[in-house]
Amino acid sequence: MFNISNMPMFNNIARGVLILCIFKQALSAERKPNIVVFIADDLGYADLGCYGNNTLKTPHIDSLARDGVRLTHHVATASVCTPSRAALLTGRHQMRSGLAPSTNIRINFWVGSRGGLPPSEITFAELTEQAGYRNALIGKWHLGNHRDRPGDHAHHPLSQGFHYFYGLLGTNFDDFANDGSKVVLKQRPYFNIQILASWLSIVACLIYAYRAKYIGVFLFAVLVFSLTAICWYLYYIMNNLYFLNSMLHRNHDIVEQPAELVGLSKRLVHEGLEFITNSSGADSPFLLVMSFVHVHTVLRVSRDWDGSSAHGIFGDAVQEMDWSVGQILDALDSSGQRDNTLVYFTSDHGAHKELGVHGGCNGVFKGGKSHGAPEGGIRVPGIFRWPAVLPAGRTVDAPVSLMDLFPLVAKAAGISLPDDRAIDGRDVLPLLKGDTDVTPHEFMFHYCGSILAAVRYIPKTGGRVWKQVSHMPNYLPGTDVCKFGCRCSDLILQDPPLIYEVISDPSESHPIDSQSVEYADISKKVEAAIKVHEASLEPVESMFSYTNVLWRYTYQECCNGTFPFYCQCSDSKYSNKFYV
Ligand SMILES: *[C@@H]1O[C@H](CO)[C@@H](O)[C@H](O)[C@H]1NC(C)=O
Ligand SMILES: *[C@@H]1O[C@H](CO)[C@@H](O)[C@H](O)[C@H]1NC(C)=O
Ligand SMILES: *[C@@H]1O[C@H](CO)[C@@H](O)[C@H](O)[C@H]1NC(C)=O
Repeated sequence: MFNISNMPMFNNIARGVLILCIFKQALSAERKPNIVVFIADDLGYADLGCYGNNTLKTPHIDSLARDGVRLTHHVATASVCTPSRAALLTGRHQMRSGLAPSTNIRINFWVGSRGGLPPSEITFAELTEQAGYRNALIGKWHLGNHRDRPGDHAHHPLSQGFHYFYGLLGTNFDDFANDGSKVVLKQRPYFNIQILASWLSIVACLIYAYRAKYIGVFLFAVLVFSLTAICWYLYYIMNNLYFLNSMLHRNHDIVEQPAELVGLSKRLVHEGLEFITNSSGADSPFLLVMSFVHVHTVLRVSRDWDGSSAHGIFGDAVQEMDWSVGQILDALDSSGQRDNTLVYFTSDHGAHKELGVHGGCNGVFKGGKSHGAPEGGIRVPGIFRWPAVLPAGRTVDAPVSLMDLFPLVAKAAGISLPDDRAIDGRDVLPLLKGDTDVTPHEFMFHYCGSILAAVRYIPKTGGRVWKQVSHMPNYLPGTDVCKFGCRCSDLILQDPPLIYEVISDPSESHPIDSQSVEYADISKKVEAAIKVHEASLEPVESMFSYTNVLWRYTYQECCNGTFPFYCQCSDSKYSNKFYV
């Protein structure tokens, strides 16, 4: 029987439940998504199962594509590490932060130098920091360390929004094999002969001047001596990348020197899992950037992966990296954070083709790492997974830039974009969700160093993507490679520029007729866009000037002594044999 006297109580309970529901909803609405970013190093477009590779086994990265959104037209802003990473982190073209070099040094070479991502730049970690996130960078940084004073660490990840760092401040080099391999001297095999020749000439000059008592000749010998000293300095710093750069940091301290690359993936995973565990109990969401040292040479894997693939040590490294991704994804699953975590997977640029079997595969695309404009150097895998927001199994063919992560992170964290600077990344959330198939980008600019080598034009009508190429690498005849890599100073001006339609001609082999009406129309639009783009660039200090980029004695860190003595340490956290 209906009892009217129970009504107020019922009302109270109902109200209580309602309030509880609203409260819970408010809570879950307040709970911002975690963000996990995976950055592979030098991974090619065609090195993953979900991008058509049928011999490399990458089930965990493939699962991201199955459960999320896979991009087929995903573009890096540079074909080498430092500038591409700067743009990824800041959502801005690298020349805005002074990281588009006008010399042939296009990456941060020495940890003991003063160039890097300027502190005035805002990284996406600084956005999430504002929103109360805990941020970690595990793996490779490659965007500098010191700035104005030795030890100020103004370019260090902990000065750029991260709260925890473990990994390489610089990059991996062939030299880290410690077996006599040299990445620079491989490009300049006669460098030591040049040095030897200058030593011999100075000795000859000094003897001659001494005998003939010629002051002019003596001064000349002093000049030669100075030049030789410069040569010797360059030779020393290029010949000793292992000794100068091979070290792992935890936060501000060197914890391992030299870095042991065998088993490093396991240590990176361990750090990532520890960070997730540490963060899971906390009230605040987290941002975890897993910036893999794989698959850059020198390639070293742990014993479990040695010989595991059908593609030698390169394939082993891809598969070990895939395992690493799987470990982090499993941790998200088991801690119940899968649905509310935005996951992104990318490579910093295309595969290093000149390395042959030690480099990856860029599929149908021409060229690769270091080449500037050709697709192979800048078209990379790109996958987003965010089960609470994005559809599963969607493929997006419209162009998306690595810089678009920045606005997406801002949106996810509920932070507005900085309004005091140009942001080149665009809001691609509607495109990822499937609300539209049109990219917010109309033009994309592709640089080699500080040279604008190509422009991509994406008409809003869709279906076509034009690419106007004004500078091509100086390829070895009949190939799409240079000797070790391509130098921007060797680019060949294309006059008139070549225009390709890269959807129907992805390997850029059939430029359209430069006499056609279509050519004139596209060219006019592109030239106008270049003007607008160039007008938006403000002059900034070059982070790659010789004084910024070259090694300095006083900036060299050494874990357990004063450089060059006792620069050797091992990390007590990883003395266990599991990590080999
Ligand atoms: C996790 O927390 C412990 C204890 O505070 C700390 O020692 C460790 O460095 C943290 N690890 C990471 C990766 O955040
Ligand atoms: C798969 O990747 C390997 C290593 O980069 C490469 O040699 C092979 O050609 C790729 N396969 C396909 C189908 O792209
Ligand atoms: C630092 O060097 C001293 C010897 O000079 C050595 O006893 C000590 O174990 C070293 N510390 C580390 C962390 O390797």
